[in-house]
Amino acid sequence: MSNNPQRYLITAALPYANGPIHIGHLAGCHLPADIYARFRRMQNHEVLFICGTDEHGVPITLAARKENTTPQAVADKYHEIIDKALYKFGISFDNFSRTTSEVHRETATDFFLDLYNKNLFEEKTEEQFYDEDNKQFLADRYIMGTCPKCGNDRAYGDQCEKCGSTLNPRDLINPHSTISSKPLVMKATKHWYIPLDKYEGWLREWILVGHKDDWKTNVYGQCKSWIDGGLQPRAVTRDLDWGVPVPLPNAEGKVLYVWFDAPIGYISATKEITPDWKKFWCDEKTHLVHFLGKDNIVFHCIIFPTMLKMHGDYILPENVPANEFLNLEGDKISTSRNWAVWLHEYLEEFPEQQDVLRYVLAANAPETKDNDFTWKDFQDRCNSELVSVLGNFFNRTIVLSQKFCGSKIPKRHDDLATETEKNMWLEFNAIKKRMEESMSQYRLREALAEMMNAARLGNKYLTEQEPWKKAKDDVYVGENDFEQLQNKYRVENCLHHCLQLSANLAILMYPFMPFTAKKILLHFNISKRANELLKWENAGRMDLLSVGYPINNPVLLFRKIEDEEIQLQVEKLKVSKANYLAANAPAKVVEPIKPEITFDDFAKMDLRIGTIVEAEKVPKADKLMKLTVDLGFEKRTVVSGIALHYKPEEIIGQQVTLLCNLAPRKMKGIESQGMILMAEDADGKLKFMMPNSKTENGSGVS
Ligand code: MF3
Ligand code: ZN
Repeated sequence: MSNNPQRYLITAALPYANGPIHIGHLAGCHLPADIYARFRRMQNHEVLFICGTDEHGVPITLAARKENTTPQAVADKYHEIIDKALYKFGISFDNFSRTTSEVHRETATDFFLDLYNKNLFEEKTEEQFYDEDNKQFLADRYIMGTCPKCGNDRAYGDQCEKCGSTLNPRDLINPHSTISSKPLVMKATKHWYIPLDKYEGWLREWILVGHKDDWKTNVYGQCKSWIDGGLQPRAVTRDLDWGVPVPLPNAEGKVLYVWFDAPIGYISATKEITPDWKKFWCDEKTHLVHFLGKDNIVFHCIIFPTMLKMHGDYILPENVPANEFLNLEGDKISTSRNWAVWLHEYLEEFPEQQDVLRYVLAANAPETKDNDFTWKDFQDRCNSELVSVLGNFFNRTIVLSQKFCGSKIPKRHDDLATETEKNMWLEFNAIKKRMEESMSQYRLREALAEMMNAARLGNKYLTEQEPWKKAKDDVYVGENDFEQLQNKYRVENCLHHCLQLSANLAILMYPFMPFTAKKILLHFNISKRANELLKWENAGRMDLLSVGYPINNPVLLFRKIEDEEIQLQVEKLKVSKANYLAANAPAKVVEPIKPEITFDDFAKMDLRIGTIVEAEKVPKADKLMKLTVDLGFEKRTVVSGIALHYKPEEIIGQQVTLLCNLAPRKMKGIESQGMILMAEDADGKLKFMMPNSKTENGSGVS
């Protein structure tokens, strides 16, 4: 592998710079891309790992409007936050750029002009939806209406999130503005389109035939349904004052569509860091791999490749290993509802625990289907996998080595080795091979599970060998006590293997948990050689650590996550849900006060205290209960609408206030002789109006 170095250009989708970044971004795209990039680098391939912030588009202009600032200021703020968070999580970009950079503006402009000069665009003047309140043409995302395919009345102009259909705003029934909520008017405007329809045959061939076997099923399936659904020309310009200006005369007020400029950002970001950028983008031998979430599939598999094809100078992606979505505690992650675990907050609340989140998100990555992140699962995986398996093996190895080998790497004694050691290393190498296989097929969870199996090998070996028993007392009587010397050598041999295995584990874990891998090297005082040691080809070597080299004092690799820490996080989510609901609750309708009445009107009512002595549900009526109320001097039958609120046995003995001179009325065939007064609280629950202490039945109320 390493003797056949390849060139990899790895991209992770550019997050929008209109909000901070959360675990959904990390799990869906940036973490898998990082794992893959680290792995390929470890194999000595030439790797460029590219990302940045996507800083154009309507959402940023709206955020700016809301925060009373400029789109550039919004982009600056979030670029900084996102950059920092991803960096702290160890996402090893070679360049984390931005689409408002000068190089990007030039690159996107040139790209557009290239297609324009080759006459490849279609130009159309069309009536488009215009929001008269805000004096602007609306981006598809800001048009809402009913989905023609599934009837969802909250479908967007570009996509129905309920059934997943891709839409055109014109497809929507009752389209209206999400900004002003008003219906929209049509107004003529000119735009440039890429004729996707003309590339349908080519796309079919390239994806549906060419990548039938190597693209993930979820990705392939989405592409197939797009292509089979028939491709339409797509406008690549917009009427907006924020973006890369359309570089043509008479195009004032028009910019490149954000989805036209953003993927070109991958090219600009490459240009920014190497004058040799063409070798990455224009040489067929480069492996171009795009990592992203499923909502980005069409743009990376259909639209951007068509742009690249139209241009002609560029290579196409070899693979687009898109992930599905990560949900949070059973609910879709949402920035606007603040239903998310924000990376910058995690870093504050779990300092130095980046690898725990990296591990949990990779182990539970939504590779083939949507997955759920729960804090309980986070805790379980940390405590029962990282702490109990990986951490435990490493810690036992170090502690025992300190105790029995004087904190130095002990000798290996091959003359005492058994099949056990041989088999352990054979299995280790088989694991390494399986990891390579899984990684090259983008099955990163599988690879990670194998890494843990390698740690289990170590635990098993240690438990079987029981070096602590063989070395019961570390005082050796002398060189001539043969049996004791043999045992001493056995202990050394066992720990030698465990220590070498620990260093090997650092290599296998490095793509997933780079901080922990480095911590292990620190223990062995070999951090300075990290780059040289953390090479994939070194995995399986039994001589990573030199005999006699000192070992540092044990430091825990992972710490247990306590129940309280998890409860705190769950509470935090509950608060954020409650806040959202409170802020978005429909305004409470206060019933207006009824018209005035006289005292005589009031005095006509005969209100008495009584006690419920019998209660039963009225058959075939959900809400009604038949009650017998004892007024002391007589009993009344009353039918009351409380059956959804109380059970009969709960209310026997309950005192009530009864309006007893109300004209009798038949309900479900039962004559009701009065009405019980009830109060209704905010959530609709009915409560009895009654005296504040037990009162004689029949007493009057006034
Ligand atoms: N900003 C987009 C999103 O978050 C992704 C852009 S990826 C790129 O959905 F290809 F356009 F760069
Ligand atoms: Zn729909």
